[in-house]
Amino acid sequence: MTGGAARGLEILDLEAAYGDARALSGVTLSVGPGEIVALLGPNGAGKTTLLKSIAGLLRPRAGTIRWEGEDLSAVGAHLIVERGLAMVPEGRRLFVSMTVEENLELGAFAARARDARRASLERVYALFPALRERRRAIVRALSGGQQQMVAVGRALMTNPRLLMLDEPSLGIAPRLVTSILEALVEINRGGVAVFLVEQNVQAALTLAHRGYVLESGRIVGEGTGAELLHDSHVRRAYLGPLAVRA
Ligand SMILES: Nc1ncnc2c1ncn2[C@@H]1O[C@H](COP(=O)(O)OP(=O)(O)OP(=O)(O)O)[C@@H](O)[C@H]1O
Ligand SMILES: [Mg+2]
Repeated sequence: MTGGAARGLEILDLEAAYGDARALSGVTLSVGPGEIVALLGPNGAGKTTLLKSIAGLLRPRAGTIRWEGEDLSAVGAHLIVERGLAMVPEGRRLFVSMTVEENLELGAFAARARDARRASLERVYALFPALRERRRAIVRALSGGQQQMVAVGRALMTNPRLLMLDEPSLGIAPRLVTSILEALVEINRGGVAVFLVEQNVQAALTLAHRGYVLESGRIVGEGTGAELLHDSHVRRAYLGPLAVRA
C-alpha cells in the first residue's frame, strides 16, 4: 500500500454500541488531508460516539478506522495524540482552577508537541489574542466562549494534523462563535484537517469543504458544503421552515 499519508482519516463500515443499544451502523466516511469536513445530525444521532471512537475512547464493535494508512483500533487513546489527532471534547473538559496558560501547556505533553511548545503557544495567542491578555487568569473566571478558545488552543498545542471538535459553539455568545469558527478556517489554512460536529448548520456548511449527515447512527447524506446547504432534507431538518422557502 502506498500514499498512506495522503489519505487522511478513512472510516469504513463502523459499528458502535452501548451494551445492546446500537449507536453507529455501517458508518463510512473520510476526512482528507487539509479538508474541513462537517458532521451534522440531531441529538442522539451518534456524533459524539463517532468522535470518541476515532479518539480511541470507545472500542468499535466492527469496522475500521484508518489514519494515514494505519489501523487505529490497535492504537491506545494515549497514543492517538502522538499520531497527530486531537479532539476538543463536548463540554471542553478544562482544568478550571488552573490558569489559561497552564491549561494550554498541558496540551503539549505529547512527545510530538514538546519541542514546539513555545511556537505553539505563540500560534494559539496569535489566533486568540484574548487568551494572551488573560493568560494568567483562572479558567473559571473566563466566559464560555473564551473557555472554548482555551479548549481549542489546548488541542492545537498537541501540534495536530487532524483537529476534531464536538459542538464548539454550544452555549456560546454569537460573537465568540464567529471568532471560533473563523479560527478553524485559519487553523485549516495552516495545513490542519478539521472534522467538525456543529449545530450551527448554516455556518458549518459555509466553512466546510464537505459534510455528512448522521441520523440514528447512519450516514444519510453527504456532499460538498454548498450541495448540503441546498439539499431539501438538510434545509427542512436543520435550517428551519424559513430555509425551505428561501
Ligand atoms: N455512555 C452511554 N451509555 C449508553 N448509551 C449512550 C451513551 N452515550 C450515548 N449513548 C446513546 O447513544 C446514542 C448516540 O449518542 P451520542 O451522544 O453519540 O449522540 P450525539 O449525536 O452526540 O447527540 P447530541 O447532539 O445530543 O450530543 C444515543 O441514543 C445515546 O442515548
Ligand atoms: Mg454529542
